[in-house]
Amino acid sequence: MRDAGVIAPELLAWYDRHARVLPWRVPPGGGLADPYRVWLSEVMLQQTTVAAVRDYFRRFTALWPTVHDLAAADDAAVMAEWAGLGYYARARNLIACARAVSAAGGRFPDTAEGLRALPGIGPYTGAAIAAIAFDAPETVVDGNVERVVARLFGVETPMPAAKPELRRLAATLTPAQRPGDFAQAMMDLGATICTPRTPACGICPLIADCAARAAGIAADLPRRAPKPAKPQRTGTVWVGLSRDAVLVETRPERGLLGGMLAFPSTGWDGADLPPPAVAGWCTVGEVRHVFTHFTLTLTVLRGTLTGPPERGALTPLRDFDATALPGLMRKVWALARPGAAG
Ligand code: ADE
Repeated sequence: MRDAGVIAPELLAWYDRHARVLPWRVPPGGGLADPYRVWLSEVMLQQTTVAAVRDYFRRFTALWPTVHDLAAADDAAVMAEWAGLGYYARARNLIACARAVSAAGGRFPDTAEGLRALPGIGPYTGAAIAAIAFDAPETVVDGNVERVVARLFGVETPMPAAKPELRRLAATLTPAQRPGDFAQAMMDLGATICTPRTPACGICPLIADCAARAAGIAADLPRRAPKPAKPQRTGTVWVGLSRDAVLVETRPERGLLGGMLAFPSTGWDGADLPPPAVAGWCTVGEVRHVFTHFTLTLTVLRGTLTGPPERGALTPLRDFDATALPGLMRKVWALARPGAAG
């Protein structure tokens, strides 16, 4: 590769012409984005794709345009708006972070270190917000950036062992001028050109510098050790109906889907909980859901209650908003709601 110092100007020139238009982004040369919007987008984008986040971001910023608005919102309203995005601890941290920033006057810290002291902001998100909202010379390394750097430098060490080396190499590229735009340019290059399976090397602004391209192995990098299979877990979930009401509960704050609206279920690791009410329970099918660390198969039972529930609360169907359910529970409802086939 030529001197690392040529990469940033080349990439920034490309970004000036090809930056993606994203609702949280200010176009290149347009100044710095509102830190609240940058923070909100970065928290939403953790573990999630740009396509999945766009509409959630628009709804959140329409409902809560400032950090003070979000800090003042009801927890349940925020959790319901987050439903479907997954990784619900993020939403609980989002509320805690908004309240901490609002209580301190509403300004986000302008350094990665200061940002990392807030709930839900780790090293990656702290660096991303500092770079994008404050143009701090931070190196922002997500999966897209790891792939770009592995190819550019021809790093053949498999992941995840290559991570420290890729981070060190990425830092050699970060410019003193426009580090925020550079961070976003690396993300855009990884998302649109330097893609995982079939990189579009023919239109890449860095083609002349890419070691993997020169060696004919761009599509093979980064190398990965084979992934171990995910453990399988099972459980039972009950959809209890009573006249025109359905039995739901709010899950405990801690743990999977914490704080989210759900149908009562057993534990998901063989831990048994009894049915939440007496009813003529019938199996209507199974749902499968992939979590980060395991795959879950839930047997779905439906029944009409013959007495008061022992846990959960009956909610009139006309007040029941299935879009407030997390993805797993939406699948359960699709199978068991009154009128569903089966
Ligand atoms: N992924 C994580 N942060 C991002 C951002 N700011 N723009 C596009 N993709 C991202």
